Amino acid sequence: MKQIALTVNGRKVEAAVEPRTHLADFLREHLRLTGTHLGCEHGVCGACTIEIGGAPARSCIAFAVGCDGLEIRTIEGFDDDAVMAELREAFSAEHALQCGYCTPGMLIAARDIVARLPDADDKRIRLELAGNLCRCTGYLGIVNAIKRVLADRRKGVAAAKPATPLVSMPFVSFKSTNAASSALAAAAVPAAMETPKGGWTEMAESFTVHKPPAEVWRAFADLPMVASCLPGAELDEHDALNVNGRMRVKLGPIAASFAGAATMERDGAGMRGTIKGAGSDGGTGSRTRGEVEYALGLAPGGETRVSVTIRYSLQGPLAQFSRSGVARDLARRLIGQFAANLDAKLDPARAGASVGATQGLDVGALIWAWIREKFARLLGRPQS
Ligand code: FES
Ligand code: FES
Repeated sequence: MKQIALTVNGRKVEAAVEPRTHLADFLREHLRLTGTHLGCEHGVCGACTIEIGGAPARSCIAFAVGCDGLEIRTIEGFDDDAVMAELREAFSAEHALQCGYCTPGMLIAARDIVARLPDADDKRIRLELAGNLCRCTGYLGIVNAIKRVLADRRKGVAAAKPATPLVSMPFVSFKSTNAASSALAAAAVPAAMETPKGGWTEMAESFTVHKPPAEVWRAFADLPMVASCLPGAELDEHDALNVNGRMRVKLGPIAASFAGAATMERDGAGMRGTIKGAGSDGGTGSRTRGEVEYALGLAPGGETRVSVTIRYSLQGPLAQFSRSGVARDLARRLIGQFAANLDAKLDPARAGASVGATQGLDVGALIWAWIREKFARLLGRPQS
């Protein structure tokens, strides 16, 4: 045994420890500071990150005897820290945690970024976080939370900012270009609801509708009809350019109903338009924001080629589906279903191709179809 003396969270601590005792075990088992988590126990995952001598360090690969005489700060030591308070609030608001196992280490790493790198951008934040693994969130919420704190501190509003509710982001309209349709658009537009930019998922798709562009363009103005083509979508109220409604999504035991609003802009001369919207599900606490740009063009045979660019962010328990490969394939299938349903509406002779538009969007079924397709492709079999 060796006698050591440390300062832990501002308190002097003396103890006799085995030379082989790791600092994380000493903190958890001798001092009962269990906010320091242990994941990999060999310096890879970052769950055990604490501050040693004012800098972030892995406590699972530091010996307690090696820290004799040093200042140690664990997550419990940041209770009154202003930056940590901002980060805690931002982590809640941005859904930057799910199980929370990585969160103490993540917060300490995040605080270090905020302190050292006030101008850090998305890329730099991700680089700095490379040593902290999270198996739940997909990192987008974590990066957004850190960016939120950095932005607030640059604006000098962090200290005065009221607490943000955990999951109650209200459903709002985006600003409409049509003053006459202001009744629905009158809902508040918080600053956070701005046009998508860095950190969002973006994908481009196109599909063909078997009718001429002018007819499809007219059909796109019929909001109840368009909504009825989108699996899971229901309209509550609408005017020419604004809608309030909901989108039902089912994933195994998770059933979500995203209530929200969207606003459209239409450019008749160019036959193009934009739909911006946002929604939240009170049950799962998932939130989404997105923007769809579409353009109609003439396809061979006088049919219509519809090009679509989708940008979105998804947070909360359903955020696992914002991960690239699967999400893109799912979006492709969803667009395929929408196109088939639209075709069937415009030409009843094609009604056989329509796909359960009024049912909730069953993500589980889509994933299952996606897995079947992948396997069929792997085995070189034609898809059924
Ligand atoms: S537990 Fe220390 S880095 Fe994983
Ligand atoms: S490991 Fe679960 S929230 Fe990060």
